[in-house]
Amino acid sequence: MKPIKVGLLGLGTVGGGTLTVLRRNRQEITRRAGREIQVAMAAVRDLNKAEKHNGDGLKLTTDPFDVVNNPDIDIVVELIGGLSPAKELVLKAIENGKHVVTANKHLLAKHGNEIFAAAQAKGVMVAFEAAVAGGIPIIKAIREGLTANRIEWVAGIINGTTNFILSEMREKGLGFDTVLAEAQRLGYAEADPTFDVEGIDAAHKLTILSAIAFGIPVQFDRAYTEGITRLTGEDVKYAEQLGYRIKLLGITRRRANGIELRVHPTLIPEKRLIANVSGAMNAVLVMGDAVGPTLYYGAGAGAEPTASAVVADLVDVTRLATADPHHRVPHLAFQPDALQPDLPILPMEEVETAYYLRMRVADQTGVLADITRILADSNISIDALMQREPEEGEPSTDLILLTHETLEKNMNAAIARIEGLGTVQGKVTRIRLETLGK
Ligand code: HSE
Repeated sequence: MKPIKVGLLGLGTVGGGTLTVLRRNRQEITRRAGREIQVAMAAVRDLNKAEKHNGDGLKLTTDPFDVVNNPDIDIVVELIGGLSPAKELVLKAIENGKHVVTANKHLLAKHGNEIFAAAQAKGVMVAFEAAVAGGIPIIKAIREGLTANRIEWVAGIINGTTNFILSEMREKGLGFDTVLAEAQRLGYAEADPTFDVEGIDAAHKLTILSAIAFGIPVQFDRAYTEGITRLTGEDVKYAEQLGYRIKLLGITRRRANGIELRVHPTLIPEKRLIANVSGAMNAVLVMGDAVGPTLYYGAGAGAEPTASAVVADLVDVTRLATADPHHRVPHLAFQPDALQPDLPILPMEEVETAYYLRMRVADQTGVLADITRILADSNISIDALMQREPEEGEPSTDLILLTHETLEKNMNAAIARIEGLGTVQGKVTRIRLETLGK
């Protein structure tokens, strides 16, 4: 059978990795796909820089529209990232009847509904394994492997940069900026690293996971997003003393009244496997009603790990290119007419979770009683409590509380009352806590 022809948009870290993996494992990949996958064309920013990839008849261009308009190209691989011109290029490729493979989580989280609808109408595939958790086949696992299950929740460490930063800061005591610079050097960080450290990249990925887990449209604008920039070493230390690790977690959970969709620093019991995922590694925990908890672990970023996912998509598309479009796996796992656009994404106030609270309190009689009364009034149950013995002569000390699950709005009200006590100094630090046990 003649080779299937691929056009790459972008030949940077992931594009270069894709070419390397396809070339190195050509025979194995052809044996799996049933025909050779040949990269015929690539759009690059700088022709001189891309020269090192020359060979095998690869044609280079600086105009990405040359690729999407080339009638010889069967599959367009979009690796340029960002919204524009990526969106225009992907839609043009679809209009031209080409299948698309993309690693662009930002694009899918924002415009996935429009892109999938266009692909559906045209009968082409849009594959996006590389968009979430790099080399971990989590899209395949949720869309296909767990298809028997009613998914209850998904919780993941899905941003390698922040996990790398948190791990290096904890293990080596390095500063935030030093570690971020290293993550950028290693090619983990986004072009705009605020996307990493503010939790936006994780929210893009979580939005996609939530859609395929629950059969809802992608709704990034409703995701709650909080990054790691306000985390302090003190909280990391106190969390450890209580038996927890702090991770930037993306959590999406089915509740009776809607779907939770949230990214924030989270205390996790250190006995959970996922709490021990360090460096740039990613891990996703999925709870299905039939299978129970399943955990997926691997490299979430980097050239070849991400290329591994891109090439897996290329093989899938190659195998299914001639199949009746109705027999392919639906883009968002559920048949397009069976998606539930009316299932609401819950506002953060309606989210239910447990909490870590740290506050600076005066070392005097009745302080603890006042705080516990406020929590009891709000129906918030305390799970653990730790008070550091004040240094000699110190008039105040840190009080740390862990609570059981409550609604975020109850906690907001309780914190406002606690901050109003004359014996509590400054703001209460609140970090959400998930046991990830059920
Ligand atoms: N900036 C992303 C991360 C790259 O750190 O995980 C992979 O999506």
